[in-house]
Amino acid sequence: VLRHSFARKAHNLSQTSSNVLQVKASFKVAILGAAGGIGQPLALLVKMSPLVSDLHLYDIANVKGVAADLSHCNTPSQVRDFTGSEELANCLKGVDVVVIPAGVPRKPGMTRDDLFNINAGIVKTLIEAVADNCPDAFIHIISNPVNSTVPIAAEVLKQKGVYNPKKLFGVTTLDVVRANTFVAQKKNLKLIDVDVPVIGGHAGITILPLLSKTKPSATFTDQEVNDLTNRIQNGGTEVVEAKAGAGSATLSMAYAAARFLESSLRALDGDSDVYECAFVQSEVTELPFFASRVKLGKKGVEAVISSDLEGLTEYEAKGLEVLKVELKGSIEKGVAFAQKQA
Ligand code: NAI
Repeated sequence: VLRHSFARKAHNLSQTSSNVLQVKASFKVAILGAAGGIGQPLALLVKMSPLVSDLHLYDIANVKGVAADLSHCNTPSQVRDFTGSEELANCLKGVDVVVIPAGVPRKPGMTRDDLFNINAGIVKTLIEAVADNCPDAFIHIISNPVNSTVPIAAEVLKQKGVYNPKKLFGVTTLDVVRANTFVAQKKNLKLIDVDVPVIGGHAGITILPLLSKTKPSATFTDQEVNDLTNRIQNGGTEVVEAKAGAGSATLSMAYAAARFLESSLRALDGDSDVYECAFVQSEVTELPFFASRVKLGKKGVEAVISSDLEGLTEYEAKGLEVLKVELKGSIEKGVAFAQKQA
């Protein structure tokens, strides 16, 4: 039930404003890429969190106005802006969670891997600063291709001698959010109750919703499984095409990132029942990184839930075998990039 607290909070927004001041705000959060399409609405949602005391917004440009604007909201957190690499260290000092949506988004016809050449370097540079200034922070990577940028981040942190695999996360929450929405619509379920685990990675066929593990339990025809799986895998492309050149998912992504952040903060705050899907270092398959449900605690990943991979349907088992080939290539591409740059 707690898994859905962010959704419930959004649902009950009108009632929560009076509660906001009763919870002790104590965590420091930095958003890198905060002036962007995701960064701005994400910053707004984080500004509303009762658990956040300090909100640090960093970008290479245009972040001053975003911070000034947000700072007028009468919620507890203090907002500060940081522009350009010379202010990055100060942005990161003492931070508990760093969220990274910096980088370029897709345009129609592009895959997430087409972003590699630009975003790989951006993530590498930002993670170097994280390693130097807040090596104990939880790191949430949104910048695509997540299947490669997370392995890049791990390599950079290793090179700096501060890699903690329990605290590095590729954010795949949007895949879960989409799966929950599409399944609830298709099966006429109460949206707030639906939970579909999504495993693998975060690009095309590497996104594998486990519809057979939907809660509350639901039955699907083969056609429904195929249609829903395809729609969840291509949800990002649906938005890219609708935006017709103006970018990719930003609002739903900000919502998903805020949910994942809220879960992380609750875990840091000592809540012992926090589960989310995320792309993390993993031993549930032979691949070094894999998205699956994880239990979050004060020290990061407390457990990777491998039982979701048991008792898969034939369709899911086949999807898993196919996705591993592509995911392996994307992971290796990230590792090779980081090692070449070292
Ligand atoms: P955007 O272009 O609107 O914003 C990106 C921001 O990053 C800009 O403000 C830009 O100034 C900033 N930036 C660029 N280089 C930087 C650097 N070196 N340091 C700090 N900031 C820098 O893009 P949008 O739509 O916000 O997307 C951001 C990323 O998120 C893209 O890579 C996109 O593919 C990814 N994404 C990931 C999703 C996921 O589910 N994980 C879903 C949707 C998008």
